[in-house]
Formats: sequence, structure tokens, C-alpha cells
Amino acid sequence: MKMKLAVLPGDGIGPEVMDAAIRVLKTVLDNYGHEAVFENALIGGAAIDEAGTPLPEETLDICRRSDAILLGAVGGPKWDHNPASLRPEKGLLGIRKEMGLFANLRPVKAYAPLLNASPLKRERVENVDLVIVRELTGGLYFGRPSERRGPDGNEVIDTLAYTREEIERIIEKAFQLAQIRRKKLASVDKANVLESSRMWREIAEETAKKYPDVEVSHMLVDSTSMQLIANPGQFDVIVTENMFGDILSDEASVITGSLGMLPSASLRSDRFGMYEPVHGSAPDIAGQGKANPLGTVLSAALMLRYSFGLEKEAAAIEKAVDDVLQDGYCTGDLQVKNGKVVSTHELTDKLIEKLNNSEARPRILQ
Ligand SMILES: NC(=O)c1ccc[n+]([C@@H]2O[C@H](COP(=O)([O-])OP(=O)(O)OC[C@H]3O[C@@H](n4cnc5c(N)ncnc54)[C@H](O)[C@@H]3O)[C@@H](O)[C@H]2O)c1
Repeated sequence: MKMKLAVLPGDGIGPEVMDAAIRVLKTVLDNYGHEAVFENALIGGAAIDEAGTPLPEETLDICRRSDAILLGAVGGPKWDHNPASLRPEKGLLGIRKEMGLFANLRPVKAYAPLLNASPLKRERVENVDLVIVRELTGGLYFGRPSERRGPDGNEVIDTLAYTREEIERIIEKAFQLAQIRRKKLASVDKANVLESSRMWREIAEETAKKYPDVEVSHMLVDSTSMQLIANPGQFDVIVTENMFGDILSDEASVITGSLGMLPSASLRSDRFGMYEPVHGSAPDIAGQGKANPLGTVLSAALMLRYSFGLEKEAAAIEKAVDDVLQDGYCTGDLQVKNGKVVSTHELTDKLIEKLNNSEARPRILQ
């Protein structure tokens, strides 16, 4: 397969973790006989410094002519006092909007060597392997009409608006994802109070008829937030609207206790997607070789799976991550018992070694 990839390293540790992900990606693509063209582009603070805007038109052009985007992270103290239009985060929101990315996927998976880092008891987290699918373009954060204050300043209004089409496309995406996973979908709403949630539930019920092999449950968001802590292992795919998803995905991200490990994908209805780690630009450790590259590496694996349908290749990367952690190699942010703390570059070398020695490597190449 041939693929064109837009690479947006961004700020802080972004370039370091991106370098690691590209090295891993090149290894796996080479091993399986695929070709990729990588085009680098500016975003965030780096783009403000060089081009005077967090999302230059040239970056958008490169993204538009690519099959998928890999992004590092944006932001840092250097730009914290910039006016709103010149904040690095504007680049992120802008690219999601311009590329029509409406579904944010955050997988959360427990890795045996990291279970001690979880704030939850080991037996509660050891089977966790879930994905939260969050709607990204509607709801309270994009109120229509937009939020406003009454004339005396003592009344405020935020509107929660959704169209049928916006709900249908995200629910459809979640069913498709459940179908290639363990075929369980929890649709999360607040249908006992909100009209938007009642429409959400109706659409989820209608869509379920097209996916009889997927077991669907409808859950209220308050109860879901309790269940995520009490029994996270019960979940496979969770789908929900923008604000509920924002809160639940942050809650879920601490279950496994390691921010640096978490990947994410932002998708639209076709196969195009943007893939990035959940963490930020970590300015406190930038340029020191301490950054954990695994969230970005695992984001590259998600890209192979969702944008290119390369399941074996994605699984090979995920297995390499598992194996390297099992061998005790980690970066300083991970609490691996008796772990050997190595640099970003060294951990990447270990991943590449695993990929090149793996039994899962295609036989013709061994
Ligand atoms: N998607 C994004 O690009 C994104 C997301 C969140 C925050 N940010 C931006 O990043 C900057 C820093 O934000 P923050 O400090 O709140 O969050 P952060 O995720 O950058 O860092 C939080 C803590 O986790 C550590 N950490 C994060 N990722 C790590 C990794 N891969 N390896 C090792 N340690 C890691 C950091 O050193 C820090 O101590 C801000 O400018 C913020 O706006 C960007």
C-alpha cells in the first residue's frame, strides 16, 4: 500500500515523540512492504513563530492532500500571554474544524507492568480495554445561538444544539467500531432530563437495528461516571455527545495511570483521520530526551488500523509496546516495578528491535 502522511510535530516534546513514532512507523511499513511519503508542516507555537499564525494555509494544504495526519502536541509558556487568535491551541481547534473531524476516539487499555500506577485497585483495572467515542463538533461548546449573558449580567444562557445528522454520523461510527472490537456499545446520554439526549437515544435505537450483532446498552452519564471507576472492565465502546465525552474521557484517562501512554484519533465519515497523543507539549521536560513516546507510537498504530485498515501492522506495533514494557524498559514518567528508565530514543530503539525480531513479522521478511 502507498500512503501520504502529513506530519505536524508542534511544540515542546512534540518533535521528540513524533521522531520516535515516525521511526517505528517506517520500520513496520518496511517490514510489511508498504510505502509512505511524509510531509512535515507547522502548527501551534512553532507556526506562530515562523508564519505568524497557529495554522498556516500551507499546513492545511499539506493536510488536504494527505491520507492522514500525525500530530505531536502544541502549546507552551512562550505563547501563554498571546491574544486568543494567536494561541497555539487555536491551531488544533482550527485543523479539526477545517478537516471536518467530528469523532474523537480515545482508547484506554491496561498494561500489566503499569498496573501499580493506577489509582484504582489492580483487580479493577487489569481487564480494562475500552474506547470512548466523543462527538466533537456540536453540543454546548458550539451553542446555536452562542452563549450569552443577560443585560444586567445576572443571567447566562448556553445552548445545547444538535442536528439529527450530527448524531447519526457519530453513532454510526461507534457501531462500526464496536463491530471490529468486542461488539458491545454503551450509548451515554441524559435522556431523563434533556431533549437532545432523548433524540440521541432514539437515533441510537434506530441505528442498532442495522447492527444486530452489536449488544447496545443505554446509560445515563451520571451512572456511567460511577461505573467507569467501579467496574471499568465492563466497557468496550462508549459513545456520547461533546461535553459528556470531554469529561468521561478525562476520567477514563487516569484509570490506567499513565498519561504518556494514551493515543487518540479524530475521524470523519471516510477513512481520513488525525492521530495524536492525549498529552500536551510537556514544556517541563522538552528537549531532555525524557519524553514517553508511546502515546504517539500507539496513535500511529491507530492510524494504520482506522485510516488504512492495516490491522496486522497496527497489532505488531501494539505488541512491540507491550513486549518492551514487559521487559521492564520505560521512560521516567512510568512507574514500572524494577523498571529500567531509558531515554526517548533508546525506548524507540527497543521498539524497533522488537518489531524486527517479532514472530508476527511477515515470513518472507524474516
Ligand atoms: N493536544 C495538545 O496538543 C495539548 C493537550 C493538552 C495540553 N496542551 C498544552 O501543553 C502545554 C502543557 O500543558 P500541561 O502541562 O497541562 O499538560 P501536559 O500533558 O503537557 O503535561 C502534564 C504533565 O505530564 C507530563 N507528561 C505529559 N506528556 C508526557 C510524556 N509523553 N512523557 C513524559 N511525561 C509527560 C509533563 O511533563 C507534565 O508534568 C500547555 O501549553 C497546554 O495548553 C496541548
